[in-house]
Amino acid sequence: MTPIASPTQDELKALVAQAALAYLVPGQIIGVGTGSTVNQFIEALARVKDQVPAAVSSSEASTERLRAIGIAVLDANEVERLSVYIDGADEIDGQGCMIKGGGAALTREKIVAALAERFICIADESKLVEKLGAFPLPVEVVPMACEHVVRRFQALGGTASLRMRGSDPLVTDNGQHILDVRGLSIEDPLALESAINQWPGVVTVGIFAHQRAQVCLLGTPKGVRTLS
Ligand code: 5RP
Repeated sequence: MTPIASPTQDELKALVAQAALAYLVPGQIIGVGTGSTVNQFIEALARVKDQVPAAVSSSEASTERLRAIGIAVLDANEVERLSVYIDGADEIDGQGCMIKGGGAALTREKIVAALAERFICIADESKLVEKLGAFPLPVEVVPMACEHVVRRFQALGGTASLRMRGSDPLVTDNGQHILDVRGLSIEDPLALESAINQWPGVVTVGIFAHQRAQVCLLGTPKGVRTLS
């Protein structure tokens, strides 16, 4: 008998991308995140684009993809409320708290998420963790504050390194830098997010606990698992 191949990570992402379409409210503007899972969501969106009058996007990359399939992209300032924000995550725990920012879009992701009534996280099941922190925590930082913020993470037992693109520091859509922090023990995501948010020079920390996901769609070999 030929063994049945397990689905690839990309196939699991496509599965949850498709499942997320059920959370659209026809005729309402949506929020769209960033990353490879969201790219699959945007592909799925192309098939139902008549239901989506416009989107607010969390990155230049997603904006380009949305426009390419014919969806108008609005500035976040033009919108007061979004029914839904759909985005991926680098890690998610059982309470819907996440680490995000692997794609360097965390600041705009938090802004768009803040406009939305519901955050729907789409991810393959490898992203579900007991405790956040194995994935290096992305932190967007004003360039002149980088070394100061590195030292503050050191004091917490973390090792922060500047994210590079080739031989230069990566520059975000907002003109800032990203530190990736390893070795943190994130026992209380809400408290750590609040604390790091107070540090001068930190634009956004990639802990999404204050703006956790209300629904998480996880792609598994048995189908979509929904956590809510
Ligand atoms: C981008 C993000 C992404 O949602 C996160 O990195 C997950 O990406 P992918 O879907 O490619 O695994 O936070 O800043």
